[in-house]
Amino acid sequence: MDRIRIEGGRRLVGEVSVSGSKNAALPQMVVGLLANGVSTLRNVPDLRDVQTMAGVLESLGASVAMQDGRVTVDARNFSNTEAPYDMVRKMRASVYVLGPMLARLKRAKVSLPGGCAIGPRPIDLHLRGFEALGATISIDGGYVIADGANMKGGEMTLEGPQGSSVGATINVLMAASLTPGRTIIRGAAKEPEVSEVVRMINLMGGRVNGSDSTTLEIEGVETLKPIVYSTIPDRIEAGTFLLAAAITGGDVMVRGARADHMNALLDKMIQAGCEIEVLPDGVRARRAGKVLPTSIRTLPYPGFPTDMQAQFMALLCLADGESIVTEGVYSERFIHVAELMRMGANIEMGRGEARVRGVPRLTGAPVMASDLRASAALVIAGLAAEGATEILRVYHIDRGYERIDEKLAGIGAVIARERALPGQTG
Ligand code: EPZ
Repeated sequence: MDRIRIEGGRRLVGEVSVSGSKNAALPQMVVGLLANGVSTLRNVPDLRDVQTMAGVLESLGASVAMQDGRVTVDARNFSNTEAPYDMVRKMRASVYVLGPMLARLKRAKVSLPGGCAIGPRPIDLHLRGFEALGATISIDGGYVIADGANMKGGEMTLEGPQGSSVGATINVLMAASLTPGRTIIRGAAKEPEVSEVVRMINLMGGRVNGSDSTTLEIEGVETLKPIVYSTIPDRIEAGTFLLAAAITGGDVMVRGARADHMNALLDKMIQAGCEIEVLPDGVRARRAGKVLPTSIRTLPYPGFPTDMQAQFMALLCLADGESIVTEGVYSERFIHVAELMRMGANIEMGRGEARVRGVPRLTGAPVMASDLRASAALVIAGLAAEGATEILRVYHIDRGYERIDEKLAGIGAVIARERALPGQTG
């Protein structure tokens, strides 16, 4: 497995471009299944998860082609009603296929996704939504078996104990858009990635009202047309680069970043002592003074994103005082804490929260990537640490960051990927 080696302590300066959003592109590829034709997505990042999704769609009979950020999904032969464990276990977002399968094929057998490094991630809200549309659902042998023959519009609330669910909102929205009658989803997620799916479906001829609000009203239509659509910039990748600038006391403009998708993060960066400049074509972050202690609590959008928690914590490790980091979305998403402590951070764990006492410096160490955003946090910490940091199991980073090593090198990081030799592990 590849490793990333970073010589820390270099100020990052310059410009870096943001890629298309992973968490928008993945469901948008699945939206392609809703139209009996060829849809094209532009600005899709070249990531492992995108390739995995292409494999999932192909296993259902669709044809997928990917080149230079363009992904075409030809759903004319979408006919297979089973998504096997081997596909779904690689990536949870595979469960998005349930919605289009129910809407177009009226049947679905989809493996339940397994455990995940960031804690339990049930899909009960997805299933509750399909049931509210009249689908009958059973679980057998680790599979969800769903019958959508009698589906019609329905009303539901898709809020769980941690608030709204991005995945459930998108999945049910896809099914409802082709289900006769009127559906009302209360407690809908408002993440920009959800709003983008709403816009895409409406441009395909769907009738969805309430984009950006917690109630979505959907009038089912008989068919949706194929479409050409561009994916929004990745707000989490952009935020990761802004924090990389901040932790190194640098000055970086992230070209293409959309500040309107990043308000909670930008506010907290300002509180932490960063200067933020919103430009017409991107966002610039710099830091000259101390990192100020800043507490954060992750919440569904527009709250502070859980997908930025680990990276922000890396910055707080060097703050001039104590900060509290509270997870409101995934209470167990703290796997990066132990690795940050191996780099010299002073963090005390409580239930669902971490007390981060700033230290004057971090020191490079060999560390293990364990999930996507935790890995990004280790990269950020490594950029500021004294000496060399070696990050193992880099495939986690490659699931969600396009060429992160090359992009960081372009703004002054001393970073290199060591390709694994055949047979080498770790
Ligand atoms: C999406 O996951 C993202 N993934 C995650 O990003 C992100 O962390 C998460 O939203 C929250 O913003 C993709 O978009 C592919 P949820 P999703 O359903 O849709 C609970 C990354 O690093 N819940 O909004 O699976 C759930 O356990 C990834 O890019 C239920 O209880 O998240 C969590 O506590 C990691 N029952 C909360 O809701 C359900 O049926 C929010 O989860 C569904 C969710």
